[in-house]
Amino acid sequence: KSYRVAILGATGAVGTELLELLASRKFPLADLKLLASPRSAGRTMQFGEEHLPVEPVGELSFDNVDIVLASAGGSTSKLWAPKAVEAGAVVVDNSSAFRMEPQVPLVVPEVNPEAAADHRGIIANPNCTTILMSVAVWPLHRVQPVKRMVAATYQSASGAGARAMEEVKEQAKAILAGETPQKEIFPYPLAFNLFPHNSKLNKLGYCEEEMKMVNETRKIFGSPEMRITATCVRVPVLRAHSEAINLEFDRPFSVEKARDILSQAPGVRLVEDWQANYFPMPIEASGKDEVLVGRIREDISNPGGLEFWLSGDQIRKGAALNAVQIAELLVAKNWVRKAAAAVSV
Ligand code: A2P
Repeated sequence: KSYRVAILGATGAVGTELLELLASRKFPLADLKLLASPRSAGRTMQFGEEHLPVEPVGELSFDNVDIVLASAGGSTSKLWAPKAVEAGAVVVDNSSAFRMEPQVPLVVPEVNPEAAADHRGIIANPNCTTILMSVAVWPLHRVQPVKRMVAATYQSASGAGARAMEEVKEQAKAILAGETPQKEIFPYPLAFNLFPHNSKLNKLGYCEEEMKMVNETRKIFGSPEMRITATCVRVPVLRAHSEAINLEFDRPFSVEKARDILSQAPGVRLVEDWQANYFPMPIEASGKDEVLVGRIREDISNPGGLEFWLSGDQIRKGAALNAVQIAELLVAKNWVRKAAAAVSV
């Protein structure tokens, strides 16, 4: 059986990767439609041997589409996802628009694949930092529940899209040429600099990105009370995020056991050479499917604590790959048409 797929936001950083993943993973496609804004009308994009046209999204775009992979920002998803569902498609949405809606499953296939079974047309793909953290923490949490989680992130420019990546390169060139770096996407120069994540701050001083890590992880883990806190920082890296994670358990979790569990965990690759001081790095995580995990050590300040470090490709597992894995899950379990069935009942 094969499926008619549309990518909404096909020309973006994540959209481009979605295209590549559908081809390289041999997704069972009957048809592939590329949708973006009117700015992209007339463009074509390569898919395997073919050149496919990019169409501006419109009222008729979702007729005869089974699966929509959406990655065109929250307001675009809010506008088009309900229309796609009405037209009978299931939408895997990369934006934050629906993630915390109680009836919308928030899915990381390595963690809570069963949640996707209950979809009513929209399945949300979590925030990138949350996906990377979940993949690494879940296998430990399953063995011994995490009592408290503290994360510090080192987030690349790619999280802000393709134009943000270009902006950092331009800024670096300008600085090296002795010129003043220009900025358009980011509020401050990112090249040779870093700044706390610039999403909206709440009354307690936490930014949206930090609260996504708290609330989304609780939802994915099915632990609404879990104690989680985070500090999110943008760093001048092009496309993979890194995170320092501290976990607290009720009783000590041996480092050896954690290493053993993570060396076998799905979606994780252990990268540790203590002699060489060699651990996960964003340049090595870029383009890889796995979350690279290392520097697992006990928390010397807390007998029940573990510390570790990870790097993961934000565009791949942090966004496009996770979305394609959700689509593959729907196909494997025959959950694609649930939305249409629900509408017609
Ligand atoms: P376009 O290239 O036509 O602007 P990124 O995350 O890399 O910034 O990419 C955003 C993606 O979302 C692009 O494919 C972009 O298309 C698309 N997009 C942005 N705004 C809209 C919109 N209003 N309608 C449809 N697609 C949009």
